[in-house]
Amino acid sequence: MESIFVGQLAALEDEGFFTAKLPGGKDVLILRCSGTVYAIQRRCPHEGAPLEKGNVWNKMIRCGQHAFTFDLETGEGLNCPGYTIERYGVTEEEGKLFISIDSDKQRNT
Ligand code: FES
Repeated sequence: MESIFVGQLAALEDEGFFTAKLPGGKDVLILRCSGTVYAIQRRCPHEGAPLEKGNVWNKMIRCGQHAFTFDLETGEGLNCPGYTIERYGVTEEEGKLFISIDSDKQRNT
């Protein structure tokens, strides 16, 4: 596992978000919902719409394109069986946010 610095906690108000790019080029969406910070894949697994254009509430995110809705805690699709979003572990140190990635997996994708 590798920890990647993605941004400052202060940049995230509740319900706020920002995006970051992983070393392999994958886009990640970092957001805060109900006080918890989540890091998920930025692009919807359905047709690739940017998930930050959707809605976040009650630990769920709904894609703005076709309303597929995902559980931020598990990544599971709630109204779209078979679809999931990739989640990343988030840690905070002295106001800095890091996400954990499997560096071997990143190199192979
Ligand atoms: S692109 Fe997200 S639900 Fe279709």
